[in-house]
Amino acid sequence: MTEFQAPKGTFDVLPADSARRAVLEEHAERILGAAGYRRIETPTFEATELFSRGVGEATDVVQKEMYTFGDGGGRSLTLRPEGTAPVCRAYLEHGMHKLPQPVKLWYLSSFFRAEAPQRGRYRQFWQVGAEAIGSDTPETDAELILLLADLLAALLAKDVRLRISSLGTPTTRAEYRMQLTDYLRAHQDALSPEVVARIDLNPMRAFDADDPVTRATMRDAPLLLDRLAPEDAEHFASVRQLLDDAELRYELDPTLVRGLDYYARTVFEFSSDALGAQSGVGGGGRYDGLIEQLGGPPIPAAGWAAGIERMLLVAGELPVATELVDLYVARATPGAGRRAFQLAGEARRAGLSAQLELAGRSIKGQLKHSDRVGARYVAIIGEEMTVSLKNMESGTQDELELSSVIPTILRGSRL
Ligand code: HAM
Repeated sequence: MTEFQAPKGTFDVLPADSARRAVLEEHAERILGAAGYRRIETPTFEATELFSRGVGEATDVVQKEMYTFGDGGGRSLTLRPEGTAPVCRAYLEHGMHKLPQPVKLWYLSSFFRAEAPQRGRYRQFWQVGAEAIGSDTPETDAELILLLADLLAALLAKDVRLRISSLGTPTTRAEYRMQLTDYLRAHQDALSPEVVARIDLNPMRAFDADDPVTRATMRDAPLLLDRLAPEDAEHFASVRQLLDDAELRYELDPTLVRGLDYYARTVFEFSSDALGAQSGVGGGGRYDGLIEQLGGPPIPAAGWAAGIERMLLVAGELPVATELVDLYVARATPGAGRRAFQLAGEARRAGLSAQLELAGRSIKGQLKHSDRVGARYVAIIGEEMTVSLKNMESGTQDELELSSVIPTILRGSRL
């Protein structure tokens, strides 16, 4: 074992992994770009308060999972655990509310959460995310959901299911929480001790309990979805109608909770059993109160994020482009080095992909290596003024002027 390893919960993206990630990025760019989303990148770290206030003081993310450090000047900074609060911060900071609304932004960035690592759960991970800020229409929610569905379809993702729900407004939620707490208190004897212990802390957890008696009790528990204010219920019905029209299949999950506090109205999550315990592939929802929470005007918004590593775990066979090497420049003698170097540079400027012998191999070794990298042509430069150009596909070899090498390959490329 070497002295240093990548820190726990992190990983290297090696060249062999890059190709699939690049395919994912291309699909994201194409699908989101076609819907008018433009790319944004925010700093890797932000003021800690942006997350404690934005994501919510009581969430696991803020309570346990943030990498927080001082900047030496008395300010507390945090490696971003998620992208929505930073994008809202950028929206406000750059006065984007003055632009035509909604402002549609997407990102592909890395995020940091100090979680216990396991398959599909890392301490540094990547997300593709999309945020539409400045619109409260149901079309915005439905469009966002369909865009993520399209991305997962493009990746040939297997066994993915979509669950959706509505959380209503914070007021409705607070009232509901009281009703649910009352119900749980009234049925304490038919609940597991763990659920009873968490009644005040997190009553919604009772819906996720495995204990059969608790599950039976929860079957008659009040549901938030049945208690939405009329305008929220109408909004949700419209989102569902649009998804139905698009023939996107989903399950209504009245107990769907997301781990972040900023959600209001629509919430959704794509998950896959193929992932095991960490089944969430991507999710999001509406966060109408967040911008105000961050000191801005009341501006409605919605969005989602999906983990790159989890999407690739559920993705099907992706056609990855093979690397093309048009020309390999070999040198027969050490004295040919400068001309070989120049030819490789000129070939690249002419739009070809060209590699140069860099390891001091013998001419035999160079030919073997050119074969290994899959070069289409090999130019062998010696002391004479002419160059021998070998077409590796046909096996033919020609003696040419140095200046004719590139035009010959270009002509060949066009055939
Ligand atoms: P989230 O559900 O916390 O939402 O994360 C979104 C996705 O990021 C998850 O579904 C998962 O695929 C991936 N993910 C999260 N944590 C990890 C981890 N430790 N290791 C690997 N992958 C992980 C958000 O982050 C919200 N900002 C989404 C959003 C955008 N809501 C509105 N706009």
